[in-house]
Amino acid sequence: MQPMISAENLRKTYGTLVAVEGWTLDLYPGDIFGFIGPNGAGKTTTIKMLATLIQPTSGSATVNGIDVVRFPREVRPYIGYMPDAFGVYDDIKVWEYLDFFCAAYDPPKESRPEIIERVLTVTDLMEKRDAYVQTLSRGMQQRLCLAKCLVHDPKVLLLDEPASGLDPRARIDIKKLIARLGALGKTIIVSSHILPELADFCNKIGIQERGKLLVSGDVETIVRQLQPTRQLMISVRNDDSAVTRLLETLRDHPLIEKVTRDTDTPYTVRVAFTGNVEQQAILLRSLIAEEHPLTSFAESAMDLEDVFLRVTTGKVH
Ligand SMILES: Nc1ncnc2c1ncn2[C@@H]1O[C@H](COP(=O)(O)OP(=O)(O)OP(=O)(O)O)[C@@H](O)[C@H]1O
Ligand SMILES: [Mg+2]
Repeated sequence: MQPMISAENLRKTYGTLVAVEGWTLDLYPGDIFGFIGPNGAGKTTTIKMLATLIQPTSGSATVNGIDVVRFPREVRPYIGYMPDAFGVYDDIKVWEYLDFFCAAYDPPKESRPEIIERVLTVTDLMEKRDAYVQTLSRGMQQRLCLAKCLVHDPKVLLLDEPASGLDPRARIDIKKLIARLGALGKTIIVSSHILPELADFCNKIGIQERGKLLVSGDVETIVRQLQPTRQLMISVRNDDSAVTRLLETLRDHPLIEKVTRDTDTPYTVRVAFTGNVEQQAILLRSLIAEEHPLTSFAESAMDLEDVFLRVTTGKVH
């Protein structure tokens, strides 16, 4: 399968400042790539190069197989670009705003109302169709901006911090919306400062610092690479002797690095497990066979904040 986005050694310098360097990545239809990095890491610069808005100093990139430097006009119909700042538009209604962008892509005039209806529905803005743009809340403006990116039904979405400045509820809404677009087979790059914010709906992530992608790949592999043990939380019936017996059993297990009684949840033991999923299943089976009164056995959520800090403080290199 041909990658939908393919970048090879992209580099961008501003005078002596190297904003992006050695940026190589392939993404396929349906990939949602979480692009994480602190301020100044070069996220916006990279996204703008892919969006054909600035030229790389060197290196190359294609979208749907088309070279972004040599054929920017041919590339543009395939991409929807959401910039990190939403321009202010006064005295224009939501549908007029969308109609304006729609016209720019030159579809038959009679199909425009239908397109506008489609993008308003997808972004859940139908009831604001006749509202003035400046009266929308920040979250709605972000959604409108995303709606604008969708009018030409692009295969690729380049979203530069679409959730910045939003409250938790609106962040969830926009994340769901992006996940929905990914499920439609679009290839999406979405940037953020915060790894946990992206990890739950992106299948791939890249962590960028000072212009370089320090790691990139599928979420699960990266997290495993950086956090080799699985954290298991095992609970037993409310009974101190049951916890003691469980602790004793687990302490002798060859694949368990560390066992501690959890301080937050009573009758629960926290385990650093070095085995794989199959070995985890065997452990569960053996605990049941030994008649431990288990009430739950679960892998705790990955500590992505910790993973991010490990990468950006260089502990992985
Ligand atoms: N037009 C420009 N001229 C000079 N330097 C620039 C220009 N645009 C970006 N830079 C520099 O390139 C580096 C990368 O900036 P960029 O905006 O790509 O980072 P970012 O990861 O998007 O940051 P943020 O999280 O703050 O949005 C920064 O050091 C920035 O100052
Ligand atoms: Mg930026």
